[in-house]
Amino acid sequence: MELVKTVSELQQQIQDSGKGTSVGFVPTMGALHEGHLSLVRQAVAENTLAVVSIFVNPTQFNDPKDLERYPRTLEADLKLLETTGCQLVFAPNAKEVYPEPDTRKFNFGKLEKVMEGAFRPGHFNGVAQVVSRLFDMVKPDKAYFGLKDFQQLAIVKNMVKQLNLPVEIVPCAIVREDSGLAMSSRNELLSAEERKNAAVISKTLFRAKELKTQMSVKELVEWVKDEINNNPFLNVEYVEIVDDEELQAAKSWDEPTTKIACVAVFCGKIRLIDNIVL
Ligand code: PAF
Repeated sequence: MELVKTVSELQQQIQDSGKGTSVGFVPTMGALHEGHLSLVRQAVAENTLAVVSIFVNPTQFNDPKDLERYPRTLEADLKLLETTGCQLVFAPNAKEVYPEPDTRKFNFGKLEKVMEGAFRPGHFNGVAQVVSRLFDMVKPDKAYFGLKDFQQLAIVKNMVKQLNLPVEIVPCAIVREDSGLAMSSRNELLSAEERKNAAVISKTLFRAKELKTQMSVKELVEWVKDEINNNPFLNVEYVEIVDDEELQAAKSWDEPTTKIACVAVFCGKIRLIDNIVL
């Protein structure tokens, strides 16, 4: 496995892999866990060259404290990546990714006006900036994104369409801890007690799936909010039941769309997200 830090080294390595190489790409912000590793393993299995980027992208953080506290664990990340068969790791610094400030403003219409887009202004513009730049550097055939960040996946698919990029976006299943808590780099920032209580989030979502037939959409949203807020460690930011294409709030179960329940919850100072197909 090679580690490179500059775009020219990255492109040299990709070129050296030869003509006809299919490149699978997993963009990450590091602090890797089993969720990331499952994406990387899939990229390794489906391509001749798997590239992972590790870059904590400043432009997608709307809260400077969140950026500061984001875990940075390059040495440990590299050790984990060694176990996956990944051939190339790109860990640039901010100057390498943004030699000039990126002033592009994307328009994702109603996709960015809800949930994460509504509560984290500018977040998806930053994600689109960095993902489009990384795609331009790596030129992947396939790129792998976790379904935990359901809205991010919709935004990236939309961006690929808008920019007409020749890359296939591959959605990958949520990986959960034994407790059911969705794996996230942010879980590392929770105390042991918080982490135990955070499992209430996924337990509530699993139960919501079972209760779907007994309640209206609105009642189920309220039930999920109450159930999570009843735990003293947890504080709901939003609960939304949306369609899986345009991510607009569902009004009734009769609408002919797949429904996803999405939540953002503070556990102490740490903001966690999760979702489930209902
Ligand atoms: O999901 C993430 O870790 C980040 O948003 C991504 C896609 C690596 C862009 O910085």
